[in-house]
Amino acid sequence: MSVKASSIEAAYRAKFGESAQLFERGLSVFPSGVTHDSRYLQPFPVFVKDASGSRKSTVEGHLLIDYWVGHGALILGHGHPDVVAAVQRQMVRGTHFSACHELEIEWGERVQRLVPSAERIRFTSSGTEATLMALRIARLVTGRTKVVKFIGHFHGWHDLLVPAAYAPYTIDDWSMPGVTPGVLSDLIAIPPNDLQAVEQAFQQQQPACCILEPTGGHWGLVPIQGEFLRGLRDLCSQYGVILIFDEVISGFRVAPGGAQAHYGVKPDMTTLAKILAGGLPGGAVCGRADLLDAISFGNRHGKKMKHPGTFNGNPLSAAAGCAALDALADGIAGGRAIEAASQVRGRLNELFARKSVSWIAYGEFSMIHILPRYDGPASVRDDFIPCGGQYEQLDVEQPAELKHAFRTALITNGVDWFGWSGMTSAAHTDNDIDETIDAFGRTIDHLRADGFI
Ligand SMILES: Cc1ncc(COP(=O)(O)O)c(C=O)c1O
Repeated sequence: MSVKASSIEAAYRAKFGESAQLFERGLSVFPSGVTHDSRYLQPFPVFVKDASGSRKSTVEGHLLIDYWVGHGALILGHGHPDVVAAVQRQMVRGTHFSACHELEIEWGERVQRLVPSAERIRFTSSGTEATLMALRIARLVTGRTKVVKFIGHFHGWHDLLVPAAYAPYTIDDWSMPGVTPGVLSDLIAIPPNDLQAVEQAFQQQQPACCILEPTGGHWGLVPIQGEFLRGLRDLCSQYGVILIFDEVISGFRVAPGGAQAHYGVKPDMTTLAKILAGGLPGGAVCGRADLLDAISFGNRHGKKMKHPGTFNGNPLSAAAGCAALDALADGIAGGRAIEAASQVRGRLNELFARKSVSWIAYGEFSMIHILPRYDGPASVRDDFIPCGGQYEQLDVEQPAELKHAFRTALITNGVDWFGWSGMTSAAHTDNDIDETIDAFGRTIDHLRADGFI
Protein backbone atom coordinates (compact mmCIF):
# COMPACT_ATOMS: atom_id res chain seq x y z
CA MET A 1 0.00 0.00 0.00
CA SER A 2 1.47 3.36 -0.92
CA VAL A 3 0.40 6.75 0.31
CA LYS A 4 -0.56 9.67 -1.84
CA ALA A 5 2.32 12.13 -2.20
CA SER A 6 1.42 15.00 0.09
CA SER A 7 2.93 17.77 2.13
CA ILE A 8 2.07 15.64 5.19
CA GLU A 9 4.28 12.87 3.94
CA ALA A 10 7.05 15.31 2.99
CA ALA A 11 7.01 16.82 6.51
CA TYR A 12 7.00 13.36 8.09
CA ARG A 13 9.93 12.21 5.97
CA ALA A 14 11.87 15.39 6.73
CA LYS A 15 11.37 15.05 10.48
CA PHE A 16 12.05 11.33 10.90
CA GLY A 17 15.00 10.62 8.60
CA GLU A 18 16.79 8.28 11.02
CA SER A 19 13.63 6.24 11.52
CA ALA A 20 13.41 5.84 7.73
CA GLN A 21 16.93 4.43 7.69
CA LEU A 22 16.22 2.02 10.54
CA PHE A 23 13.06 0.88 8.82
CA GLU A 24 15.05 0.12 5.66
CA ARG A 25 17.39 -1.98 7.79
CA GLY A 26 14.49 -3.74 9.54
CA LEU A 27 12.93 -4.64 6.20
CA SER A 28 15.64 -7.21 5.61
CA VAL A 29 15.05 -8.72 9.05
CA PHE A 30 11.27 -8.64 9.62
CA PRO A 31 8.30 -9.10 7.29
CA SER A 32 7.17 -5.54 6.47
CA GLY A 33 9.94 -4.36 8.80
CA VAL A 34 7.84 -4.58 11.99
CA THR A 35 7.33 -6.89 14.97
CA HIS A 36 3.64 -6.10 15.57
CA ASP A 37 0.97 -5.50 12.92
CA SER A 38 -0.27 -2.31 14.56
CA ARG A 39 3.16 -0.73 14.35
CA TYR A 40 3.17 -0.95 10.57
CA LEU A 41 2.90 2.49 9.02
CA GLN A 42 3.53 3.89 5.56
CA PRO A 43 5.93 5.28 4.45
CA PHE A 44 7.73 3.99 7.58
CA PRO A 45 7.03 3.89 11.32
CA VAL A 46 8.93 6.06 13.79
CA PHE A 47 11.58 4.40 15.91
CA VAL A 48 11.64 5.24 19.61
CA LYS A 49 14.75 5.21 21.77
CA ASP A 50 13.43 5.98 25.23
CA ALA A 51 10.35 7.02 27.13
CA SER A 52 9.37 8.63 30.40
CA GLY A 53 5.97 9.44 31.91
CA SER A 54 3.55 10.31 29.12
CA ARG A 55 6.17 10.86 26.44
CA LYS A 56 8.50 8.89 24.25
CA SER A 57 11.49 10.15 22.37
CA THR A 58 12.18 9.14 18.78
CA VAL A 59 15.65 8.28 17.54
CA GLU A 60 15.76 11.81 16.09
CA GLY A 61 15.13 13.22 19.58
CA HIS A 62 11.53 14.36 18.93
CA LEU A 63 9.18 13.97 21.89
CA LEU A 64 5.79 12.35 21.26
CA ILE A 65 2.87 12.42 23.69
CA ASP A 66 2.02 8.74 23.90
CA TYR A 67 -1.53 7.42 23.67
CA TRP A 68 -0.47 3.80 23.05
CA VAL A 69 0.93 3.54 26.57
CA GLY A 70 2.54 0.16 26.03
CA HIS A 71 -0.46 -1.22 24.10
CA GLY A 72 -2.45 -0.46 27.24
CA ALA A 73 0.05 -1.96 29.70
CA LEU A 74 1.43 1.31 31.06
CA ILE A 75 -1.45 2.94 32.87
CA LEU A 76 1.08 4.47 35.26
CA GLY A 77 3.07 5.91 32.35
CA HIS A 78 6.55 5.01 31.21
CA GLY A 79 9.18 4.29 33.83
CA HIS A 80 7.05 4.61 36.97
CA PRO A 81 9.69 4.87 39.74
CA ASP A 82 8.20 2.08 41.91
CA VAL A 83 8.09 -0.32 38.98
CA VAL A 84 11.62 0.55 37.85
CA ALA A 85 12.98 0.10 41.38
CA ALA A 86 11.20 -3.25 41.83
CA VAL A 87 12.55 -4.61 38.55
CA GLN A 88 16.07 -3.38 39.29
CA ARG A 89 15.99 -5.03 42.73
CA GLN A 90 14.79 -8.29 41.23
CA MET A 91 17.17 -8.21 38.26
CA VAL A 92 20.21 -8.73 40.44
CA ARG A 93 18.53 -11.46 42.49
CA GLY A 94 17.67 -13.55 39.47
CA THR A 95 15.45 -13.46 36.40
CA HIS A 96 14.40 -17.10 36.24
CA PHE A 97 14.68 -19.71 38.97
CA SER A 98 13.03 -22.65 37.21
CA ALA A 99 11.40 -22.97 40.60
CA CYS A 100 8.57 -21.66 42.72
CA HIS A 101 9.29 -18.33 44.38
CA GLU A 102 7.62 -16.11 46.98
CA LEU A 103 7.13 -13.16 44.65
CA GLU A 104 4.76 -15.12 42.41
CA ILE A 105 2.56 -15.79 45.44
CA GLU A 106 2.65 -12.12 46.37
CA TRP A 107 1.69 -11.23 42.81
CA GLY A 108 -1.18 -13.72 42.82
CA GLU A 109 -2.39 -12.54 46.25
CA ARG A 110 -2.63 -8.99 44.94
CA VAL A 111 -4.75 -10.22 42.02
CA GLN A 112 -6.97 -12.11 44.48
CA ARG A 113 -7.41 -8.99 46.58
CA LEU A 114 -8.36 -6.80 43.63
CA VAL A 115 -10.25 -8.98 41.14
CA PRO A 116 -13.58 -10.29 42.50
CA SER A 117 -13.62 -13.54 40.47
CA ALA A 118 -10.02 -14.52 41.27
CA GLU A 119 -10.39 -17.47 43.65
CA ARG A 120 -7.43 -19.17 41.96
CA ILE A 121 -4.87 -17.91 39.43
CA ARG A 122 -2.47 -19.32 36.86
CA PHE A 123 0.10 -17.04 35.28
CA THR A 124 0.91 -17.17 31.57
CA SER A 125 3.24 -15.10 29.41
CA SER A 126 0.65 -13.14 27.44
CA GLY A 127 -3.02 -12.36 27.01
CA THR A 128 -3.22 -14.63 23.99
CA GLU A 129 -2.05 -17.55 26.09
CA ALA A 130 -4.52 -16.64 28.81
CA THR A 131 -7.59 -16.71 26.55
CA LEU A 132 -6.37 -19.93 24.93
CA MET A 133 -6.06 -21.49 28.35
CA ALA A 134 -9.44 -20.28 29.58
CA LEU A 135 -11.19 -21.90 26.62
CA ARG A 136 -9.44 -25.20 27.15
CA ILE A 137 -10.35 -25.24 30.83
CA ALA A 138 -13.98 -24.50 29.95
CA ARG A 139 -14.05 -27.40 27.50
CA LEU A 140 -12.40 -29.82 29.86
CA VAL A 141 -14.79 -28.99 32.68
CA THR A 142 -18.02 -28.93 30.67
CA GLY A 143 -17.19 -31.67 28.17
CA ARG A 144 -18.56 -29.34 25.46
CA THR A 145 -16.57 -27.97 22.56
CA LYS A 146 -18.18 -24.84 21.16
CA VAL A 147 -17.25 -21.30 22.08
CA VAL A 148 -19.37 -18.17 21.80
CA LYS A 149 -17.65 -14.87 21.14
CA PHE A 150 -18.85 -11.47 19.93
CA ILE A 151 -18.16 -9.90 16.58
CA GLY A 152 -15.34 -7.37 16.84
CA HIS A 153 -14.02 -8.64 20.16
CA PHE A 154 -10.30 -9.23 20.21
CA HIS A 155 -8.83 -11.91 22.44
CA GLY A 156 -5.35 -12.39 21.00
CA TRP A 157 -4.26 -14.06 17.82
CA HIS A 158 -4.66 -17.81 18.45
CA ASP A 159 -6.72 -19.87 16.02
CA LEU A 160 -9.97 -20.16 17.90
CA LEU A 161 -10.56 -16.53 18.78
CA VAL A 162 -8.91 -14.48 16.06
CA PRO A 163 -11.75 -15.07 13.57
CA ALA A 164 -14.41 -12.33 13.69
CA ALA A 165 -12.02 -10.01 15.53
CA TYR A 166 -11.47 -7.52 12.71
CA ALA A 167 -13.63 -5.59 10.27
CA PRO A 168 -14.93 -6.12 7.67
CA TYR A 169 -17.37 -8.59 9.18
CA THR A 170 -18.95 -10.85 6.64
CA ILE A 171 -21.87 -12.75 8.07
CA ASP A 172 -21.34 -16.51 7.99
CA ASP A 173 -17.72 -16.20 6.95
CA TRP A 174 -15.35 -15.54 9.80
CA SER A 175 -12.51 -17.22 7.98
CA MET A 176 -9.03 -16.11 8.80
CA PRO A 177 -6.14 -17.15 6.56
CA GLY A 178 -4.38 -20.14 8.10
CA VAL A 179 -7.22 -21.13 10.47
CA THR A 180 -8.69 -24.48 9.52
CA PRO A 181 -12.41 -25.00 8.87
CA GLY A 182 -12.37 -27.59 11.68
CA VAL A 183 -11.34 -24.99 14.25
CA LEU A 184 -13.73 -22.48 12.79
CA SER A 185 -16.66 -24.85 13.13
CA ASP A 186 -16.29 -24.69 16.92
CA LEU A 187 -16.70 -20.93 17.00
CA ILE A 188 -20.01 -19.12 17.19
CA ALA A 189 -19.59 -15.38 16.60
CA ILE A 190 -22.64 -13.27 17.34
CA PRO A 191 -23.38 -9.53 17.32
CA PRO A 192 -22.54 -7.69 20.54
CA ASN A 193 -25.24 -6.33 22.83
CA ASP A 194 -27.85 -8.80 21.59
CA LEU A 195 -29.11 -11.04 24.40
CA GLN A 196 -31.61 -12.74 22.10
CA ALA A 197 -28.79 -13.89 19.83
CA VAL A 198 -26.93 -15.12 22.90
CA GLU A 199 -29.88 -17.16 24.12
CA GLN A 200 -30.47 -18.63 20.67
CA ALA A 201 -26.80 -19.67 20.42
CA PHE A 202 -26.88 -21.18 23.92
CA GLN A 203 -30.09 -23.12 23.17
CA GLN A 204 -29.04 -24.40 19.77
CA GLN A 205 -25.30 -24.97 20.19
CA GLN A 206 -24.77 -25.71 23.89
CA PRO A 207 -21.37 -24.04 24.06
CA ALA A 208 -18.76 -24.64 26.74
CA CYS A 209 -18.19 -20.95 27.30
CA CYS A 210 -18.86 -17.41 26.25
CA ILE A 211 -15.99 -14.91 26.17
CA LEU A 212 -16.11 -11.16 25.75
CA GLU A 213 -14.32 -7.89 26.30
CA PRO A 214 -16.59 -6.58 29.06
CA THR A 215 -16.28 -2.94 28.01
CA GLY A 216 -16.86 -3.80 24.35
CA GLY A 217 -14.85 -4.97 21.36
CA HIS A 218 -11.48 -3.32 20.75
CA TRP A 219 -11.64 -1.73 24.18
CA GLY A 220 -14.98 -0.10 23.84
CA LEU A 221 -14.98 0.82 20.15
CA VAL A 222 -18.45 -0.72 20.29
CA PRO A 223 -19.31 -0.14 23.94
CA ILE A 224 -21.03 -2.71 26.13
CA GLN A 225 -23.12 -1.62 29.07
CA GLY A 226 -23.63 -3.14 32.49
CA GLU A 227 -27.18 -4.14 31.66
CA PHE A 228 -25.96 -6.44 28.90
CA LEU A 229 -23.33 -7.93 31.21
CA ARG A 230 -25.97 -8.67 33.84
CA GLY A 231 -28.24 -10.28 31.25
CA LEU A 232 -25.36 -12.33 29.92
CA ARG A 233 -24.44 -13.46 33.42
CA ASP A 234 -28.00 -14.68 33.97
CA LEU A 235 -28.12 -16.54 30.64
CA CYS A 236 -24.76 -18.21 31.29
CA SER A 237 -25.95 -19.41 34.70
CA GLN A 238 -29.25 -20.60 33.23
CA TYR A 239 -27.63 -22.61 30.41
CA GLY A 240 -24.54 -23.83 32.27
CA VAL A 241 -22.22 -21.83 29.99
CA ILE A 242 -18.97 -20.63 31.54
CA LEU A 243 -18.70 -16.86 31.38
CA ILE A 244 -15.21 -15.53 30.67
CA PHE A 245 -14.41 -11.83 30.95
CA ASP A 246 -11.35 -11.00 28.89
CA GLU A 247 -10.00 -8.17 31.03
CA VAL A 248 -6.62 -8.01 29.34
CA ILE A 249 -7.26 -4.31 28.67
CA SER A 250 -10.00 -3.42 31.16
CA GLY A 251 -8.39 -5.21 34.12
CA PHE A 252 -6.96 -2.70 36.64
CA ARG A 253 -7.84 0.11 34.15
CA VAL A 254 -11.59 0.53 34.44
CA ALA A 255 -11.31 0.13 38.21
CA PRO A 256 -8.71 -1.58 40.42
CA GLY A 257 -10.86 -4.73 40.18
CA GLY A 258 -11.57 -4.30 36.47
CA ALA A 259 -14.93 -4.13 34.69
CA GLN A 260 -16.33 -6.91 36.88
CA ALA A 261 -15.80 -4.76 39.97
CA HIS A 262 -17.12 -1.64 38.26
CA TYR A 263 -20.31 -3.31 37.04
CA GLY A 264 -20.72 -5.76 39.92
CA VAL A 265 -20.93 -8.74 37.56
CA LYS A 266 -18.80 -11.75 38.46
CA PRO A 267 -17.62 -13.95 35.60
CA ASP A 268 -16.63 -17.58 36.13
CA MET A 269 -13.17 -16.95 34.72
CA THR A 270 -11.16 -13.84 33.87
CA THR A 271 -8.19 -13.39 31.59
CA LEU A 272 -5.61 -10.74 32.42
CA ALA A 273 -2.36 -9.37 30.96
CA LYS A 274 -0.85 -5.94 30.18
CA ILE A 275 -1.24 -3.83 33.37
CA LEU A 276 -1.10 -7.07 35.39
CA ALA A 277 2.64 -7.33 34.71
CA GLY A 278 3.44 -3.62 35.10
CA GLY A 279 4.75 -3.21 31.55
CA LEU A 280 6.67 -6.48 31.35
CA PRO A 281 5.36 -9.60 29.60
CA GLY A 282 2.79 -11.57 31.55
CA GLY A 283 -0.77 -12.81 31.64
CA ALA A 284 -3.08 -14.85 33.82
CA VAL A 285 -6.26 -16.86 33.96
CA CYS A 286 -8.13 -16.53 37.20
CA GLY A 287 -11.54 -17.63 38.34
CA ARG A 288 -13.57 -20.12 40.32
CA ALA A 289 -11.45 -22.60 42.22
CA ASP A 290 -13.44 -25.57 40.88
CA LEU A 291 -12.69 -24.47 37.30
CA LEU A 292 -8.99 -23.74 37.82
CA ASP A 293 -8.87 -27.19 39.42
CA ALA A 294 -8.68 -28.41 35.81
CA ILE A 295 -4.94 -27.76 35.98
CA SER A 296 -4.46 -29.33 39.45
CA PHE A 297 -2.75 -32.68 39.78
CA GLY A 298 -5.14 -35.44 40.78
CA ASN A 299 -8.11 -33.16 40.25
CA ARG A 300 -11.80 -33.85 40.66
CA HIS A 301 -12.27 -34.07 36.89
CA GLY A 302 -10.07 -37.15 36.72
CA LYS A 303 -8.08 -35.56 33.93
CA LYS A 304 -5.59 -32.77 34.15
CA MET A 305 -5.05 -30.06 31.59
CA LYS A 306 -1.34 -29.75 30.89
CA HIS A 307 0.03 -26.30 31.36
CA PRO A 308 3.77 -25.71 31.09
CA GLY A 309 5.20 -22.33 29.92
CA THR A 310 8.81 -21.26 30.43
CA PHE A 311 8.02 -17.76 31.60
CA ASN A 312 4.91 -18.40 33.73
CA GLY A 313 5.19 -16.36 36.93
CA ASN A 314 8.50 -14.90 35.81
CA PRO A 315 10.25 -13.08 38.71
CA LEU A 316 10.85 -9.85 36.78
CA SER A 317 7.23 -9.65 35.65
CA ALA A 318 6.12 -10.54 39.18
CA ALA A 319 8.22 -7.70 40.60
CA ALA A 320 6.87 -5.18 38.09
CA GLY A 321 3.34 -6.51 38.51
CA CYS A 322 3.37 -6.26 42.31
CA ALA A 323 4.67 -2.68 42.16
CA ALA A 324 2.10 -1.66 39.54
CA LEU A 325 -0.84 -3.28 41.33
CA ASP A 326 0.20 -1.60 44.59
CA ALA A 327 0.27 1.76 42.84
CA LEU A 328 -3.21 1.15 41.39
CA ALA A 329 -4.96 -0.46 44.33
CA ASP A 330 -6.56 2.67 45.80
CA GLY A 331 -8.03 3.72 42.44
CA ILE A 332 -6.45 7.18 42.46
CA ALA A 333 -3.99 6.65 39.58
CA GLY A 334 -6.60 4.89 37.43
CA GLY A 335 -9.02 7.71 38.21
CA ARG A 336 -6.50 10.27 36.97
CA ALA A 337 -6.18 8.38 33.68
CA ILE A 338 -9.98 8.32 33.35
CA GLU A 339 -10.25 12.04 34.03
CA ALA A 340 -7.54 12.77 31.43
CA ALA A 341 -9.37 10.71 28.79
CA SER A 342 -12.65 12.42 29.55
CA GLN A 343 -10.99 15.81 29.08
CA VAL A 344 -9.39 14.73 25.80
CA ARG A 345 -12.72 13.42 24.46
CA GLY A 346 -14.57 16.61 25.38
CA ARG A 347 -11.92 18.96 24.04
CA LEU A 348 -11.51 16.99 20.83
CA ASN A 349 -15.24 17.28 20.19
CA GLU A 350 -15.07 21.04 20.78
CA LEU A 351 -12.16 21.19 18.35
CA PHE A 352 -13.95 19.11 15.71
CA ALA A 353 -16.93 21.47 15.96
CA ARG A 354 -14.70 24.55 15.74
CA LYS A 355 -12.86 23.17 12.73
CA SER A 356 -16.10 21.93 11.12
CA VAL A 357 -14.86 18.37 10.62
CA SER A 358 -17.36 15.56 10.70
CA TRP A 359 -15.50 13.54 13.33
CA ILE A 360 -16.58 12.50 16.79
CA ALA A 361 -14.57 11.40 19.82
CA TYR A 362 -16.20 8.99 22.25
CA GLY A 363 -15.30 6.21 24.62
CA GLU A 364 -15.42 5.25 28.25
CA PHE A 365 -13.01 5.18 31.15
CA SER A 366 -9.42 5.91 29.99
CA MET A 367 -10.09 4.87 26.39
CA ILE A 368 -10.76 7.24 23.50
CA HIS A 369 -12.03 6.47 20.01
CA ILE A 370 -12.40 8.76 17.05
CA LEU A 371 -14.93 8.06 14.36
CA PRO A 372 -14.08 10.03 11.24
CA ARG A 373 -16.66 10.53 8.51
CA TYR A 374 -19.47 10.77 11.10
CA ASP A 375 -22.68 12.45 10.02
CA GLY A 376 -24.96 11.71 12.99
CA PRO A 377 -26.00 13.92 15.89
CA ALA A 378 -23.36 15.11 18.34
CA SER A 379 -23.69 15.49 22.08
CA VAL A 380 -21.67 17.24 24.73
CA ARG A 381 -22.31 14.34 27.12
CA ASP A 382 -19.25 12.20 27.79
CA ASP A 383 -21.35 9.02 27.82
CA PHE A 384 -22.74 9.67 24.32
CA ILE A 385 -22.37 6.64 22.03
CA PRO A 386 -22.55 7.50 18.32
CA CYS A 387 -24.51 5.48 15.75
CA GLY A 388 -26.70 4.00 18.47
CA GLY A 389 -23.78 1.71 19.32
CA GLN A 390 -24.19 -0.30 16.08
CA TYR A 391 -21.04 -2.29 15.41
CA GLU A 392 -21.61 -2.15 11.65
CA GLN A 393 -21.09 1.63 11.80
CA LEU A 394 -18.60 1.99 14.63
CA ASP A 395 -16.23 -0.85 13.84
CA VAL A 396 -15.42 -0.16 10.21
CA GLU A 397 -12.20 -0.09 8.27
CA GLN A 398 -11.51 3.58 7.43
CA PRO A 399 -9.95 4.47 4.06
CA ALA A 400 -6.28 3.47 4.19
CA GLU A 401 -5.01 6.77 2.77
CA LEU A 402 -6.88 8.84 5.35
CA LYS A 403 -5.72 6.53 8.13
CA HIS A 404 -2.07 6.80 7.13
CA ALA A 405 -2.22 10.54 6.52
CA PHE A 406 -3.90 11.07 9.91
CA ARG A 407 -1.34 9.04 11.79
CA THR A 408 1.71 10.50 10.07
CA ALA A 409 0.40 14.06 10.41
CA LEU A 410 -0.37 13.57 14.10
CA ILE A 411 3.05 12.06 14.80
CA THR A 412 4.69 14.94 12.94
CA ASN A 413 2.71 17.24 15.22
CA GLY A 414 3.97 15.44 18.33
CA VAL A 415 1.28 12.89 19.26
CA ASP A 416 1.42 9.11 18.84
CA TRP A 417 -2.14 7.79 18.56
CA PHE A 418 -3.13 4.10 18.31
CA GLY A 419 -4.81 4.11 14.87
CA TRP A 420 -8.06 6.00 15.49
CA SER A 421 -7.97 5.26 19.21
CA GLY A 422 -5.90 6.13 22.23
CA MET A 423 -5.53 5.39 25.92
CA THR A 424 -4.44 7.70 28.68
CA SER A 425 -2.25 7.02 31.68
CA ALA A 426 -1.98 8.54 35.12
CA ALA A 427 1.07 10.39 33.79
CA HIS A 428 -0.88 12.47 31.24
CA THR A 429 -0.88 16.05 32.50
CA ASP A 430 -3.06 19.07 31.71
CA ASN A 431 -0.16 20.39 29.68
CA ASP A 432 -0.08 17.14 27.66
CA ILE A 433 -3.77 17.53 26.97
CA ASP A 434 -3.37 21.16 25.83
CA GLU A 435 -0.55 20.14 23.51
CA THR A 436 -2.56 17.17 22.23
CA ILE A 437 -5.49 19.36 21.28
CA ASP A 438 -3.15 21.82 19.52
CA ALA A 439 -1.55 18.91 17.65
CA PHE A 440 -4.96 17.64 16.53
CA GLY A 441 -5.83 21.16 15.36
CA ARG A 442 -2.71 21.38 13.21
CA THR A 443 -3.30 17.83 11.97
CA ILE A 444 -6.80 18.70 10.81
CA ASP A 445 -5.43 21.76 9.00
CA HIS A 446 -2.79 19.64 7.29
CA LEU A 447 -5.29 16.94 6.28
CA ARG A 448 -7.52 19.62 4.83
CA ALA A 449 -4.67 21.33 2.98
CA ASP A 450 -3.66 18.01 1.43
CA GLY A 451 -7.24 17.19 0.44
CA PHE A 452 -7.76 14.21 2.75
CA ILE A 453 -10.80 15.75 4.43
C1 LIG B 1 -8.83 -7.81 25.12
C2 LIG B 1 -7.54 -8.46 24.72
N1 LIG B 1 -7.38 -9.77 24.92
C3 LIG B 1 -6.25 -10.41 24.61
C4 LIG B 1 -5.20 -9.74 24.05
C5 LIG B 1 -3.93 -10.45 23.70
O1 LIG B 1 -2.95 -10.12 24.62
P1 LIG B 1 -1.40 -10.28 24.23
O2 LIG B 1 -1.11 -9.23 23.20
O3 LIG B 1 -0.69 -10.09 25.54
O4 LIG B 1 -1.24 -11.66 23.70
C6 LIG B 1 -5.30 -8.36 23.82
C7 LIG B 1 -4.19 -7.61 23.22
O5 LIG B 1 -4.26 -6.47 22.87
C8 LIG B 1 -6.51 -7.71 24.15
O6 LIG B 1 -6.67 -6.41 23.92
